[in-house]
Amino acid sequence: MKKIFLSFTIFALLQLNLFAQNKINSDSIRSKMQWFADAKLGIFIHWGIYSVNGIDESWSFYNKKISYADYINQLKGFTASKYNPQAWADLIKESGARYAVITTKHHDGVALWPTKQNHFNVVDNTPARKDLLKPFYKALDKDGIKRGAYFSLIDWSYPDYPGFTKDSTRYKIADEPERWKKFQHFFQSQIEEVNEAYKPDLWWFDGDWEHSAEEWQAQKVRQKILSKNPSAIINGRLQGYGDYVTPEQNFPVSRPKFNWWELCMTTNNNWGYHPDDTNYKTPFEVINIFVDVVSNGGNLLLDIGPKEDGTIPDEQIYILKELGKWNKKNGEAIFGTIAGLPQGHFYGATTLSKDSTTLYLFLPNQQAGNIMLKGLINKINDVQIVGTTQHLQPKIVGKISWSSVPGLVFIHVPEKYKDEYMTVLKLKLDGPLKLYRGEGGL
Ligand code: GLC
Repeated sequence: MKKIFLSFTIFALLQLNLFAQNKINSDSIRSKMQWFADAKLGIFIHWGIYSVNGIDESWSFYNKKISYADYINQLKGFTASKYNPQAWADLIKESGARYAVITTKHHDGVALWPTKQNHFNVVDNTPARKDLLKPFYKALDKDGIKRGAYFSLIDWSYPDYPGFTKDSTRYKIADEPERWKKFQHFFQSQIEEVNEAYKPDLWWFDGDWEHSAEEWQAQKVRQKILSKNPSAIINGRLQGYGDYVTPEQNFPVSRPKFNWWELCMTTNNNWGYHPDDTNYKTPFEVINIFVDVVSNGGNLLLDIGPKEDGTIPDEQIYILKELGKWNKKNGEAIFGTIAGLPQGHFYGATTLSKDSTTLYLFLPNQQAGNIMLKGLINKINDVQIVGTTQHLQPKIVGKISWSSVPGLVFIHVPEKYKDEYMTVLKLKLDGPLKLYRGEGGL
């Protein structure tokens, strides 16, 4: 009789993931990635002149929904008049997020800092007239939140960038290599400026799809950043030279193979401020998505889009606060954990403590009543409802004395302990997690 027992230790989990890694993996990367792996939640901020009209960031002129002249005219209306970076940082902290990533420059080329490269920026070209990055990063520092810099490699406004709108380009690199070199010098210099002035903990590149690794000088970008800030993390949109992968909006069903990953997602359907878009996700939906991401070993980078004056839409504040409330109560099951059980053991999300002796079960659909867990070989020493002092008694069902196949675990969760959004159970095991993965039988 063939019986399959898999013992999932922390080492096995790490090993598995390591094999799926690409060429840049190494021990030093693993150690610099640790805060990121523990962080689970980041807040993405898309702030730019597109918030003046409340239209698609950059894409609106690229896709010709608006003329370039009208698009760029929004520079005149970008005031940042009520910008309160400390309030932003405090809200981010309240949400439970451990890092924030702000658009230092989107595809439209407008920099939120006073770039020295003689190109659009909010200090010289908008009524905001000030560096918007500096005080924000300072506020994040104060709140102990890691600083992320979104940077678009694409710059559809720069006169020496080939791409412009969906059906027009300025030139071909093969025809005018010198012109492309000028652009390379320009964007490398901007990256250097941000790297030196603000020392981001994390670089979030975007737009790499328009050119190859060679054209972007991706290796040089990476080297330059790391030579000044060796522990900086670089996202995967750098043509193979990043540290983690970034599925966008589209939700993974199978566990991504790469060791570190982050789902970036909007709160409604748009990245930037879009008053006509009221299709907001509810806190319940956001929490479900968040928990599923963490259960699969990823992070969620949840986006907000402030208005031109620097205020954050109420609907987004509400989502962040509700998420924060839930995190405050249930955070021990999230932050600093590792991916949970493989599929098939529990109908819901799960996470594990790093030593895998504690298993967290997230009860789907605000469920109470009986829950079932399959294939757990360990003895359960204790069951507790996270965020409460309530302990529960598990019942082992169908354990056959002469068989080594474990019984089913049933736990009854009384209705009155139901969390408003998602109830979490904490199972203390008698040692590192051991699972039965077989097909039953003798
Ligand atoms: C896409 C879009 C961009 C957006 C980004 C966020 O790459 O081009 O507008 O900022 O996704 O992930």
